[in-house]
Amino acid sequence: MTAKIINGKEIATKKRIEIDEKVKQLKAKNVTPGLAVILVGNNHDSRTFVNIKLKACEELGMYSILIEMPEEIREEELLAKIEELNGDPKIHGILVQLPLPKHIDEKKVSETIIPAKDVDGLHPINIGRLMKGRNTFLPCAPYGIIVLLEESEISVSGKKAVVVGRSNIVGKPIGQLLLNQNATVTYCHSKTRDLKLHTTQADILIVDARIANFIKAEHIKEGAVVIDVGMNRNEAGKLCGDVAFDEVSEKAGYITPVPKGVGPMTITMLMYNTLKSAKESLR
Ligand code: GUN
Repeated sequence: MTAKIINGKEIATKKRIEIDEKVKQLKAKNVTPGLAVILVGNNHDSRTFVNIKLKACEELGMYSILIEMPEEIREEELLAKIEELNGDPKIHGILVQLPLPKHIDEKKVSETIIPAKDVDGLHPINIGRLMKGRNTFLPCAPYGIIVLLEESEISVSGKKAVVVGRSNIVGKPIGQLLLNQNATVTYCHSKTRDLKLHTTQADILIVDARIANFIKAEHIKEGAVVIDVGMNRNEAGKLCGDVAFDEVSEKAGYITPVPKGVGPMTITMLMYNTLKSAKESLR
């Protein structure tokens, strides 16, 4: 079997046209969706991701600000900045780019952003809402994956879904979202024994292992849907996913490439969440 490629770039473009229209409607009511991005330190990849997010805001006519802080910033100063943004009416979404330096507690940061501006969906209240299947901000990459599946007309109900990775930002929430859609979900992680035993049973395999070309054809069931969340650099410095694309695409039914897979959808859903927050601020 040769897999159908799920083109995240194309689906993201389609969704952004819809968002663009809704931003215009909101601006006609004198509300411009606004996103504040906080970047701590000078990690090259983080800076690149932040620039992509700011560019997407600009292209959609949204307001955005970048707050840069040095690597050595004290935790209290970062939290004070977040508090200030919590009270800023021009800002509807606050995103603190991860990872943060070791001396800063990510949990405290995600709990300081008020739930109404938590466009990353990392506040415990929003995570609780996600678990209960209630209206909330869904974390952007998992949300993007759900939209990719929908747009590719891949049904989830009753399927066996296996998630490789258990991060708070990807693995845990995507597993929960698939469960909410009636999949039977298994989580695999670094302590899982016999990974292949689980992954070869997956109708839908989500991979966020953060290891280049970690998942090979031998890990896959013939015809499976394979979603690659990985963003790594190979020996040549080229961007690549967690899935060995060439060999897996010979066996899978559907596959997302890297780049042009989950990445563009993650940015698009951030824009969607910022718009949603701005709309909700009118209530
Ligand atoms: N670092 C990598 N991906 C993300 C993301 O989706 N949100 C934040 N805040 N940081 C990230």
